[in-house]
Amino acid sequence: MNIQGLSSRAKQSIGMAKSSREIENLRLKYLGRKGEINKLMETLPTLPKEERSALGKQINELKVILARALDEQQSSLRKSELLKSEKESLDVTVPGIRPQIGHIHPVTQATTEILEAFTELGYEIIEGPDVENDHYNFEVLNIPKTHPARDLQDTFWLTNGLLPRTHTSAMQVRVMEQRKPPFKIAVPGWVYRQEREDATHASSFHQVEGFAVGEHISFAHLKGTLFTLLRKVLGDETKLKFRASYFPYVEPCAEVSATCPHCKGRGCDICKQSGWIEILGSGMIHPVVLKNAGIDPKKYSGFAFAFGSTRLAMLKYKINDIRLFTGGDLRFLEQF
Ligand code: DAH
Repeated sequence: MNIQGLSSRAKQSIGMAKSSREIENLRLKYLGRKGEINKLMETLPTLPKEERSALGKQINELKVILARALDEQQSSLRKSELLKSEKESLDVTVPGIRPQIGHIHPVTQATTEILEAFTELGYEIIEGPDVENDHYNFEVLNIPKTHPARDLQDTFWLTNGLLPRTHTSAMQVRVMEQRKPPFKIAVPGWVYRQEREDATHASSFHQVEGFAVGEHISFAHLKGTLFTLLRKVLGDETKLKFRASYFPYVEPCAEVSATCPHCKGRGCDICKQSGWIEILGSGMIHPVVLKNAGIDPKKYSGFAFAFGSTRLAMLKYKINDIRLFTGGDLRFLEQF
């Protein structure tokens, strides 16, 4: 009797079984009452005593092996049938697995709101290059090479003589050269300075520059514009304070503070108990700048201003460390 032969024959046919019915037939064929295993068992008493127990043991082992092989084949068939039926009965109404997606950065959210306010006032929104040349960033803005006003902004210089723009004012003359007054322009963008970083100073931050040029544009227009914009962003009761200041591209020049939107000017931690927050630089565009842009300062005048949208976002969302905006920490960003 050839147990080995039976074993390999049985395993092969079990492995090839393609349906539950086939498997059941094989189970009967080998393990059934009248199956091959039992037939073998029945031959045992006819054998010499010495061979009986060893052979009996082998037959029992084979029985266990075949039973396991049948079960395994059955379960692998079931799995592939299940997969097949899943494919055939795809339920398109089952909700999908939502991928993790990001959302708008808080600085962009604040900027969008500011730009909406500009748009309502009829401003055109224009973006400019992050890498500027000396000419537009300084020279045409009445800041010649040797002028001490250059020290107001510590600058990163690139090895090719260009620089990451230190302010969005760099776009003023670029835009003015391209059009004829009257025009009203807003320029949002990141700016870069060599800063010793701390909670209120970052080496890159976001600004929005606004400027308007036309006939008979006066300081009153600048004030009206700033009140409208800042009240839209900080609230209707916002008051503004204008203080004389100095930037070489505007004359007169004013630094503007707004009443703190959190305490309404009464004094709180956010405004360091002063009731006021310094918001922007502004002024009437210097005649030299207009001339540099090819605009006749005798006929036209204009105003310009810029504020840090990063700072406005800090104020709006009560954020006390400017570095959080660019730190890339999701625990911070996910709160907005
Ligand atoms: N460019 C200045 C800065 O980044 C801000 C500024 C001041 C812009 C006065 C202006 C202005 O347009 O008139 O610090």
